[in-house]
Amino acid sequence: MALSRRVRSISPSSTLALTALAKQMQAEGIDVISFAGGEPDFETPKHVREAAIQAIREGFTKYTAVAGTEQLRDAVVAKLKRDNGLEYTRDEVITCAGSKQALYNLGMVLFDKRDEIIIPVPYWVTYPEQVRLAAATPVFVPTAEEEGFRLKRRDVERVLSPRTKALILNSPCNPTGAVIEVEELKAIAELAVEKDFYLVSDEAYETLTYDGVKHVSIASLGEEVKARTFVVGAVSKTYAMTGWRLGYAAGPKEIIKAMIDLQSHSTSAPTSISQKAAVAALLGSQEAVEVMRVEFERRRDHLLEHLQRLPGVTCVPPQGAFYAFPNVSAFYGKKIARGRKINSSTDLVAYLIREARVTAVPGGDFGSDKHLRLSYCLSMEQIREGLERMGRALEQLR
Ligand SMILES: Cc1ncc(COP(=O)(O)O)c(C=O)c1O
Repeated sequence: MALSRRVRSISPSSTLALTALAKQMQAEGIDVISFAGGEPDFETPKHVREAAIQAIREGFTKYTAVAGTEQLRDAVVAKLKRDNGLEYTRDEVITCAGSKQALYNLGMVLFDKRDEIIIPVPYWVTYPEQVRLAAATPVFVPTAEEEGFRLKRRDVERVLSPRTKALILNSPCNPTGAVIEVEELKAIAELAVEKDFYLVSDEAYETLTYDGVKHVSIASLGEEVKARTFVVGAVSKTYAMTGWRLGYAAGPKEIIKAMIDLQSHSTSAPTSISQKAAVAALLGSQEAVEVMRVEFERRRDHLLEHLQRLPGVTCVPPQGAFYAFPNVSAFYGKKIARGRKINSSTDLVAYLIREARVTAVPGGDFGSDKHLRLSYCLSMEQIREGLERMGRALEQLR
């Protein structure tokens, strides 16, 4: 089959594939506990669903402006001011079918053939692939597990080159839950200004932070850094709206304009109904956001407590998002059936599905093969049961 070179260089999203596998097993009646998912298990808040129903009733079901309605772009502007202390105008905002599309559009209009794009490791699976789709080169910079996987300015300095076009930041981070310290954000902002590169700040998990840690958008640290930053946001994780497909980006007007032009030839505007729902989410009561955050913090504590009981497993406490990223490398080299050995995070995930009916995502997919990503978008009961099962299966390897 004559697939394009562009597409031959990428792999499908492993997180989506594993979620699909778990759902398929569950549909077949297999009692599988999935730590692989990447979406809140809560309902979208009622007032948001009502806004969508009203939109349908009122016949708000036609194409809108490509960048989204004025009402929605203004809602994003208001949100960025209210929550992040950021001043944008409507023409500095685009809304898209999910923040994934916002990131994709941005890569397509900003990255070029010889550009190097710095991606901290562990990374969200989509970044390297989007960089490659834009024909640019991902440059990986490891963060230290001993430092809680929190990116430091010195990590970035190590890989800077004259070809560096941008740095992708994701704080709170998927998959580690790391939140970059404000002092380091300031230092990274200064570096970006000094060395003249862009910052892509993926803030999809901004409302999910724990232990009193607060999210700070790097764009809020001064006019100079704001002028070279793209803030990418989503309603997916904040309001349990993953299926509505609505995200946005804010940044310098000329580049946002190019993203709108690109989007006008790909998907056009996001769904009109989702746009109305997103306005209600962004401007309506924020009560549900805090309820979910508190529940995720409880689950995180529960997950960490049970993880600590698993001999051979260590885990940096995540400060945000809804993932833990335990180190499971103590089990590599251990024998399983028919003389075979566990040699990688993928082998371990396959073993856990078979032996424990538990799924997780291999750390290798996030650039860190010593780890597994466990999401805690599960009930407390499922977390306990899943980790006990995992513990029994790991015990057999020792
Ligand atoms: C770090 C990160 N950014 C962006 C997204 C994309 O979310 P959406 O396209 O639903 O807004 C995800 C989804 O898993 C994510 O984990």
